[in-house]
Amino acid sequence: MKKIGLFYGSDTGNTEEIALKIRSKISKEQVYLIDMYDAKVEDFAEYDQIILGLSTWHDGQLQSDWDTFFDQFKKIDFSGKTVALFGLGDQFVYCDYFIDGVGIIGEVVLKNGGTIVGKWSTEGYEHTESKAELDKGTFLGLAIDEDNQFDQTDDRVAAWVEQIKKEFPIEL
Ligand SMILES: Cc1cc2nc3c(=O)[nH]c(=O)nc-3n(C[C@H](O)[C@H](O)[C@H](O)COP(=O)(O)O)c2cc1C
Repeated sequence: MKKIGLFYGSDTGNTEEIALKIRSKISKEQVYLIDMYDAKVEDFAEYDQIILGLSTWHDGQLQSDWDTFFDQFKKIDFSGKTVALFGLGDQFVYCDYFIDGVGIIGEVVLKNGGTIVGKWSTEGYEHTESKAELDKGTFLGLAIDEDNQFDQTDDRVAAWVEQIKKEFPIEL
C-alpha cells in the first residue's frame, strides 16, 4: 500500500471538505492530509503519489496559503512523481478565471518533471476562460463548483476518484 499525500488549501472550508471526501473514497490509512498552511517543502519528498487541491480567489489568484507557499513550490522537483489536481471555483461570477489556480499549480508540476493524472472534461461547465484548460475541452484536474453546482459534487468526486485509482494507479 503506497501512501498518498493530499495537500490542500482552503479559505472558507470548501476545498477541505472535498479533500476529506476524496480521502474517504480511497482510504483513511493511505491518504495523508496536509493543510498548505502547515506544509513544508520537505513534506513533498515523502510521497511519489500526490493530490493537490486548492480554490481560486480574487480574479484568478491562488488560495491564500498556496499563494504564500508558491515561491517555495516552484523549487520542488516533481520528477518521478505522479500528481492529480482538483480545484474549486465559481464558474458564473468568475467565469474568466474559473479554477485558474489548478492551471497555475499544474504548470509548475509539469515544468518540474511531474506526470499529471486525473484530467477532467469541461463538459457541463459554463465558464468562459480558465488557466486550468490547457487543452481545449479538458481541465488539468477535477473542477468543483460548490457555489452553483453543489448537487453534482458527490457524483463528480466519486467518478474522479475511480479515474485516478486507475491512472495513478492506486494499489489498495
Ligand atoms: C471574493 C471572491 C473571489 C473569488 N474569485 C474566484 C476566481 O477568481 N475564480 C474562481 O473560479 N472562483 C473564485 N471564487 C470562488 C471560490 O473559489 C469558491 O467559493 C470556493 O468554493 C472557495 O473554496 P475555499 O473555501 O476552499 O477557499 C471567489 C470567491 C470570492 C468570495
